[in-house]
Amino acid sequence: MSDAVRPGIPPLRIGALTVDPPLVLAPMAGVTDHHFRLIVRRIGGVGLVSMEFLPAAALVRGIRPVLRKAHFVEEERPLASQIYGRDPEEMRRSAALVEQLRPDVCDINMGCPANKILRNCAGAALMGDLRRAARMIELCRRELSIPLTVKFRLGTGRPGEPLNYLELGRICEDLGVDAVAMHARTARQMYRGRADWSHLARLKRALRIPVIGNGDVRTPDDAIEMFERTGVDGVMIGRAVLTDPFVFRRAAAALAGRRIEPPTVEERFELIETHFRWILRDEDRRTALHKLRSFLGRYAHGLPEGRALRRRISGLEHPEEFLPAVESHLRPTGAGRR
Ligand SMILES: Cc1cc2nc3c(=O)[nH]c(=O)nc-3n(C[C@H](O)[C@H](O)[C@H](O)COP(=O)(O)O)c2cc1C
Repeated sequence: MSDAVRPGIPPLRIGALTVDPPLVLAPMAGVTDHHFRLIVRRIGGVGLVSMEFLPAAALVRGIRPVLRKAHFVEEERPLASQIYGRDPEEMRRSAALVEQLRPDVCDINMGCPANKILRNCAGAALMGDLRRAARMIELCRRELSIPLTVKFRLGTGRPGEPLNYLELGRICEDLGVDAVAMHARTARQMYRGRADWSHLARLKRALRIPVIGNGDVRTPDDAIEMFERTGVDGVMIGRAVLTDPFVFRRAAAALAGRRIEPPTVEERFELIETHFRWILRDEDRRTALHKLRSFLGRYAHGLPEGRALRRRISGLEHPEEFLPAVESHLRPTGAGRR
């Protein structure tokens, strides 16, 4: 797309909440933890950040690692907690717990395509059982004074099951859901093929409540294109932020009609340094090793000679070795990091 950015895309309103800019960090299990949400917040440009999903069954049983996942700090706001489960009553109880924790939004996951979750009739499997989905939404709505959203896909994609996102969208609207988010693929597609944005336009035309579009937004230009082609009220970005955590800052500038420079290597290093110090401070060694490896593998995409860095870290066995490895990669002679 050219520099001819058309400003004038208004903030997203989810119930009484104003999300400005109307850009949303997608919920991503194993990624959008407390540290990562703070990193994305500090970089700026994101309107609403989402947590990793919280399994209702574990939440209501008070399972400690899940309660820990539900933790957030004021600086992350506005923030959405996402719950998933198969049993409407269990979901109602977990919505009541979320209400007590008081994030800005409670989101119900009806889009997760992972087999483990589908077999459990949760996530996107609910699109194959709209009666159960409706019951769940109705019960959760009653427990929540904070805004409620539902995130879903085009449909299950199972043979013989039609795309039923319009039906689910209308159910959400009728039951008092404040906004919906749709990943424009079927569950069966997982992440294959291209997201079909024409369905986002159709959903937007069919509903009065706000629609957040999701799927394959990789750059600020993609975000603008999604707004313009589909008319959605908000754009949700997932995987792109893994390799380019600065994408929201640039997308927000583009929405305001400005172009900004990509981050310098120095800025990228500072981000990695901050993130990794938090991981080393807060996680046990095993989790730290896992997180450092997976985050650095992604961050390396934005760094010079990223492939060499990824090779280098694959052999590291101690959490303390990661930061020095990045630093010496970026400053082999001990000179400036640029
Ligand atoms: C690693 C990973 C974890 C995800 N975890 C969740 C999740 O917990 N809840 C959810 O609703 N979607 C989850 N998703 C789906 C994303 O929220 C998003 O819908 C999807 O990645 C499409 O958006 P994108 O093309 O911008 O990545 C996950 C995706 C990825 C890649």
